[in-house]
Amino acid sequence: MSALLSTHGLVARYGDFQALYGIDTEVGEGEAVALIGANGAGKSTFLRAIMGLLPVDPDMVRIDGQPMGGTPTDRMVQKGVAIVPEGRRLFRGMTVEDNLRVAIDRAEHLGRSGGWSLERLHKLFPILRDKARTPVQSLSGGQQQMVSIGRALLCQPRILLCDEISLGLAPKVIREIYAALPEIRAQGTAVIVVEQDVGLAQSASDRLYCMLEGRVTLSGRSDAVTRDQIGEAYFGAGHAVV
Ligand SMILES: Nc1ncnc2c1ncn2[C@@H]1O[C@H](COP(=O)(O)OP(=O)(O)O)[C@@H](O)[C@H]1O
Ligand SMILES: [Mg+2]
Repeated sequence: MSALLSTHGLVARYGDFQALYGIDTEVGEGEAVALIGANGAGKSTFLRAIMGLLPVDPDMVRIDGQPMGGTPTDRMVQKGVAIVPEGRRLFRGMTVEDNLRVAIDRAEHLGRSGGWSLERLHKLFPILRDKARTPVQSLSGGQQQMVSIGRALLCQPRILLCDEISLGLAPKVIREIYAALPEIRAQGTAVIVVEQDVGLAQSASDRLYCMLEGRVTLSGRSDAVTRDQIGEAYFGAGHAVV
């Protein structure tokens, strides 16, 4: 059986600069995979390449084994891939509810249906109900992240790509946000979490990949990889985790 999402020798460039050097990964239906690596390793580029935001060959990204690389983002959303992008990218000046309604309209337009509704989302993140009429720029960072996750969920994804959803947030808020992942997965939704906090990444995933300078340097079961293995893969040979 084909993986839900797989990449095959995925390369990506920004002009003359090569950011990814042949990335092979796969994510099964309902699986949680973490992608770790230092700043600049290529994690966001990997997610952007999957979402059709960078030119890549069709065979390099597959959904259910079908070549989808370089497909426009809307088509990827239609296929069940949604992203919580780096920096959240909410529509400033619009309320929480209006931000979420954009996603509902988009999913409808793209013909995607599923179990996520405003009501379900309010159960997952009750604060989004209380703040429904609040402009998103008045929210705290954690609340904005919840809107961003909600917006992706309302696209009814089979796989959710999360780009550093803990960045800049207080530990308590990070716990709250990560606590939503099991519930999201209970819907059968697979997730890829890009995360710089290695411990958090391990605890939130079944398997992990570590990237260094555009290459995968380690992959394995999250509960089986050792700190030494991660240290070497994260920083390059000769370094240890401190
Ligand atoms: N828009 C861009 N133009 C040129 N280079 C970029 C661009 N975005 C990222 N890069 C470069 O690509 C590499 C990988 O970046 P990125 O994927 O953002 O890393 P990460 O998310 O792991 O921190 C870095 O060297 C970065 O400087
Ligand atoms: Mg990044």
